[in-house]
Amino acid sequence: MARGSTSKNSKNNNLDGFSAATVFEKEQGITYKDFLILPGYIDFAPQDVSLETQVTRNVRTKLPLISSPMDTVTESQMAITLALLGGIGIIHNNLSMEDQAAQVERVKRYENGFITDPIVLSPKNTIADIDNISLRYGFSGVPITEDGTLRSKLVGIVANRDVDFERDRTIPLAKVMTTELVTAPKGISLIQANEILRKSKKGKLPIVDKEGRLVALMSRTDLLKNREYPSATKDSQKRLRVGAATSTHPHDRERIEMLIARGVDLLVIDSAQGYSKFQIDMLKEMKKKYPDVDIMAGNVVTREQGEALIKAGADALRIGMGPGSICITQDTMACGRSQATAVYYTALMAAKYKIPVIADGGISNIGDIAKALAVGASATMCGSLLAGSKEAPGDYYYENGVRLKKFRGMASIEAMEGGGGAKRYNVEDQKIRVAQGVSGAVVDKGSLFEFIPYLMQGVRHALQDMGCRDIPSLHKALYSQKLRFEPRSLAAQAQGGVHGLYSYKKPIIGAD
Ligand code: IMP
Repeated sequence: MARGSTSKNSKNNNLDGFSAATVFEKEQGITYKDFLILPGYIDFAPQDVSLETQVTRNVRTKLPLISSPMDTVTESQMAITLALLGGIGIIHNNLSMEDQAAQVERVKRYENGFITDPIVLSPKNTIADIDNISLRYGFSGVPITEDGTLRSKLVGIVANRDVDFERDRTIPLAKVMTTELVTAPKGISLIQANEILRKSKKGKLPIVDKEGRLVALMSRTDLLKNREYPSATKDSQKRLRVGAATSTHPHDRERIEMLIARGVDLLVIDSAQGYSKFQIDMLKEMKKKYPDVDIMAGNVVTREQGEALIKAGADALRIGMGPGSICITQDTMACGRSQATAVYYTALMAAKYKIPVIADGGISNIGDIAKALAVGASATMCGSLLAGSKEAPGDYYYENGVRLKKFRGMASIEAMEGGGGAKRYNVEDQKIRVAQGVSGAVVDKGSLFEFIPYLMQGVRHALQDMGCRDIPSLHKALYSQKLRFEPRSLAAQAQGGVHGLYSYKKPIIGAD
């Protein structure tokens, strides 16, 4: 053994810690909390760290962050927000294929700063309809089109001041609407449209096509919020990118067709145990039929499982069986794998094929994201971390004075009754359904527009501490054994967290 060496695995050098190979080849599976990464050499600032990554063979994002296809996590608002900020959202499939396709379409049609699905009325509607709208949505500037639908000819606009003093609320809007309109042409830039809106002093700016049909609306109240998102995840036509989940069930072939017709960028075959004939057959068939649409396959946790899916055409692998915050799979099914071990081995195998792996589940703080990337993941998929945000589906409610939102496993009894969860867990046709998840609540996280930048700046700091400027160089350091790992004892874990204080103020995230 060379002098200064601490184990046979660090022979010929005097590096502290161990290679990932040494740490993970132990008999015991481990997860993020069980190890630390030893610091590297810093000669750059956190803002020099790029988090750009490959989430599938052909889809790149600026941030290694994907939202889980869960019915309390990802619908269009979550997907739009994540894509604007540089990640990508996967619309869940616990809803009819028409509804799921409509969610996808909403993301694809979204234009930052423009309302692409405004509420529209016809000249025949009455002032009472305007009253209803202001009661329900809190606004009153409503565009009026010939037949009361979007994409029909714009004929007027009704604002509060047009109807304020009218006693008779049954008067048709044709009589009160403003017909002298300031409009902007379809295709106008956000900056130009903002400028017209500012100068016009109007509350709303309708956007119309060449034939004068309404295609979108801009609102004065959003003027200050309308900003550019340079890191947004976009397709070649500059539309936001979005993914959608599907099952391996034969009748979901129609769902897939519909999702693709609406422009979905990425399909996720949502299955708790992805190493199945159903998934392999589905992958082969879909890759043949739709070679241009990337498919993330899974979930898998072993090299054998992952390799089979790659050979069947997978463009990314989703890794995780049992680490999810709401998950009881390991207790109920006896199968699964400790998450860091699962990510390490599958990534090691997938690297040979240049296929990215996604660490799915069990991410509870910034350090977990950084560790998942450090053991080979190209991106992380998060459920609980993003649930409870303003952009997650569902309403807030209070329990013991704490503001909460519902969050549930897709294999919780509640979600399985909704349909999609049952498909994921292969129990759709069964009379007795065994739950693999629970239903609960998470605390209000506020808006992701503040939370995600904080989270990602934390990850940049973590990579800086490791001495790596980007994810590819982190993976290079992992496989060249330059990146050094060290398991830590339970006492060390306790000491690594906040301890010995009577009370303290928790940061936005990070102190469990
Ligand atoms: P989290 O980020 O720890 O909350 O984990 C989210 C991940 O848990 C999802 O992306 C799914 O892979 C997984 N998951 C979702 N619902 C269930 C369930 O009911 N049981 C087990 N795992 C689930």
